[in-house]
Amino acid sequence: MKLLIKGGRVINPSSGLDEVIDILVEDGIIKAISKDIQVDKNVNIVHADNKIVCPGFIDLHVHLREPGFEYKEDIASGTRAAAAGGFTSICCMPNTNPVIDNAAVASFVKERAAKSGVVNVYPIGAVTKQQAGKELAEIADLVTAGCVGLSDDGKPVLGSDIMRHAMDYANMFNLPILSHCEDTGLSSGGQMNEGYFSTIFGLQGIPDEAEEVMVARDIMLTGLTGARLHLCHLSTAGSINLVRLAKKKGLNVTCEVTPHHLTLTDEVIEGYDTDAKVNPPLRTPEDIEALIVGINDGTVDCIATDHAPHHLESKDCEFNLAAFGISGLETAIPVVMSLVNSGKIDLMRMVELFTVGPADIINLDRGTIEVGAIADITIIDPDKIQMVNPQNFYSKGKNTPYKNREFRGWPYATIVKGELVASEGIVR
Ligand code: DOR
Repeated sequence: MKLLIKGGRVINPSSGLDEVIDILVEDGIIKAISKDIQVDKNVNIVHADNKIVCPGFIDLHVHLREPGFEYKEDIASGTRAAAAGGFTSICCMPNTNPVIDNAAVASFVKERAAKSGVVNVYPIGAVTKQQAGKELAEIADLVTAGCVGLSDDGKPVLGSDIMRHAMDYANMFNLPILSHCEDTGLSSGGQMNEGYFSTIFGLQGIPDEAEEVMVARDIMLTGLTGARLHLCHLSTAGSINLVRLAKKKGLNVTCEVTPHHLTLTDEVIEGYDTDAKVNPPLRTPEDIEALIVGINDGTVDCIATDHAPHHLESKDCEFNLAAFGISGLETAIPVVMSLVNSGKIDLMRMVELFTVGPADIINLDRGTIEVGAIADITIIDPDKIQMVNPQNFYSKGKNTPYKNREFRGWPYATIVKGELVASEGIVR
């Protein structure tokens, strides 16, 4: 099976390529990258004139909810949301029911993804049994079953001793720990960022320090153990500073930021829109500024969505009772493109943060366009202008604070192993 991607502007951060050039794919592998490739009449052609052709986008942080919470999302709907959103590979977090804390559940997720999924799915195993923070999960079994990292995401690993042991174990398998940094002693009961707006809106706040205390602790434990630490969804200027210092020291630390923390502040909680309730909470303009500086100076390693779909009943209620989380897969590209369009982030850097950046963190042999590489490719239409309509989401989670907002720059095509799985937002 051959596929020709013709006339697109190919951006490949791992080689620095930024050129209008054709890509020929054969049997799921990139066969040629060259000007003006000619093919037989029967070969499928994706016409990519005025489009941006990138390595397949990778999202390290997705909640697929299956098994256990299929009313919020399942592997079929979540992977379709990923494909529609331009992602070819996603990692799914273990806060399912049962938790992905043993080989049987990890294998179930992999098998289900192979059967009903449309993009590559890599499970993240739990750090502790049932994410209870007490006993380590069966880490070796999780690795054998195909987990590419460990996390208790949704919950922090509160015990420093447990985190230290987890790091020692993870080290044996060269596995990253993806840490959800939250001191629940400081965040408990909190509904939004602690500051001026939480006072005005009469909601209990979550201080920056709830995140930063744990970022500092985990960085120290990485210093102690030498383990690979990946810090999830960082939201504050202080956290970015801590990572910058850790990197200067040569510690094994990477981090991600989300599209929503890059573009929305706590002010949007005005009107008590529960779709903007997320953990960690939306912060301040100064924090956004610091995250963007972190992107541009290399402190931030990747952008991840923290796609957290919820059903209507979890969100259509009083703010205090609503679940935390934003359905993010189908808005990530347009939201981050808004930062490219306003000149805050360079296009090549954006593509890097969605491709080779995350691939390196989980040792994935994807995220690059070169001859011989697996043909996972994301194509963006930088000129398409469209409003966000959650009712058109493939995700069961319609919980987006971007509803009815217009963006320029949307996914045009998603190609997984040489197969066109989505075009112009429609999954095949
Ligand atoms: O807002 C969030 N929702 N943050 C998390 O860390 C977990 C996630 C979820 O699972 O709903």
